[in-house]
Amino acid sequence: MSSDQQPVLPNRQIPFSKAFTEFISTDWAPYGEQLPDPLPSTAHTAARREMVSAMFPGERIVIPAGGYRVRSNDTDFRYRAHSAFAHLTGLGTDREPDAVLVMEPVGGGHEACIYFSPRAPRTDPEFYSSSRYGEMWVGQRESLAEMSAMAALPTAPIGSLAEAVGRDTGTVRVRVLRDADADITAMVDAARGEASVECDTELQVALSELRLVKDPYELEQLRAACRATATGFEAVVAELPRAVAAGRGERWVEGVFGLHARHAGNAVGYDTIAACGDHATTLHWIRNDGDLRNGDLLLLDAGVELDSLYTADVTRTVPVSGTFTAAQRKVYEAVLEAQQAGIDAARPGVKMRAIHDAAVAVIARKLSEWGILPVSAEESLSDEGGQHRRWMVHGTSHHLGLDVHDCAQARQENYREGVLAEGMVVTVEPGIYFKSTDLLVPDELRGIGIRIEDDIAITADGCDILSSALPRDPDAVEAWITRIWGES
Ligand code: GLY
Ligand code: MN
Ligand code: MN
Repeated sequence: MSSDQQPVLPNRQIPFSKAFTEFISTDWAPYGEQLPDPLPSTAHTAARREMVSAMFPGERIVIPAGGYRVRSNDTDFRYRAHSAFAHLTGLGTDREPDAVLVMEPVGGGHEACIYFSPRAPRTDPEFYSSSRYGEMWVGQRESLAEMSAMAALPTAPIGSLAEAVGRDTGTVRVRVLRDADADITAMVDAARGEASVECDTELQVALSELRLVKDPYELEQLRAACRATATGFEAVVAELPRAVAAGRGERWVEGVFGLHARHAGNAVGYDTIAACGDHATTLHWIRNDGDLRNGDLLLLDAGVELDSLYTADVTRTVPVSGTFTAAQRKVYEAVLEAQQAGIDAARPGVKMRAIHDAAVAVIARKLSEWGILPVSAEESLSDEGGQHRRWMVHGTSHHLGLDVHDCAQARQENYREGVLAEGMVVTVEPGIYFKSTDLLVPDELRGIGIRIEDDIAITADGCDILSSALPRDPDAVEAWITRIWGES
């Protein structure tokens, strides 16, 4: 929890006069009495909390949203709640800095309550002087009753949290999600007289694994995030000629996608990778300060995060000129074949790693056929080998949801070695990256980096590609570009 007032830089503080403080609180229209509707997510959040309740009977569970993060001095990054808090409360964009969800053991289950700073009356200095909470600074925030209606949960003022957390700690075990808010973690540690890191880690793992299987609302949100992302990719394609002409075209691309992400949703779900030519061989190229050149490929890895905070994670690699060269097409087709092998392997009952194994088997075979791999494909694919990883060092799949790398604290046996189940959403994203400095690679392939990434939902008998609105086949990609340029 942060202090309720942002640190004020002394050299900028202008004292408020008595006349002002008396005057500022008068003659405002009263707040409306109509309570907001419950958020659509709340049809599912009670069931999610039930699952937490069943895992930790008789224990108090403390899940902070987290506070603002300072960008510099008195300027913060845009607020985003911890994903575990968002998952169990249903709250999305902007909500709720410094709030804490407490699940109190009652009878055989739990009663949940959101503790937060409700808006202060206009007679309170917060109204005009708090740049973090004040209505003058950040707009009208919720009352206790309004937050309660939105989240379909009881609410209480944050000032009563310490008492609620510290009650009966001699007999009630308390667990806190440690990584969400250092101040709340310290409060819980003080109340129970110890850090209890191990028991808190169990909670962190459980909350992460709880999100491995998506409920129908989450699946619908991820589908919508993919739709919005496809719109952003189309807008980027329409702008390619202008991005070439503008110089620093990677930034132009990032900006165009960012416009659509902010317009359709909350933000980008992660920093956009807009990488032209050899930049595409740097896996996390987010500097995005290069030119776009006809003749090169643009690798665009981007996703829209909706107001509900669910994000897509999609990559397309497209020819800036609208047409693949023969060398680019050869590598592209290999990556596409690898991706299709990964998608074909994705079905309930198989291990998650089967997706990766299927994809890299194709990559190793292609590298071998091209005479690049110094050993056989089989040797490279063995545990003692791995030479092919020089050209694809990353994994093929990760879970996707509220976080782009969702469920990151899940145990290995439930993640990479875990078995795919209906309702899981994962990416399939093989690539081949030939750096311009790689002496083992033929000249015509150097400086080519290609990744194709789609988001898939595991169904009862296979998988559904949520991002299928975007073409993958190279001919379809060229036709898509031609169509968009014809329309714009
Ligand atoms: N965009 C990050 C990833 O694909 O995992
Ligand atoms: Mn990904
Ligand atoms: Mn990605």
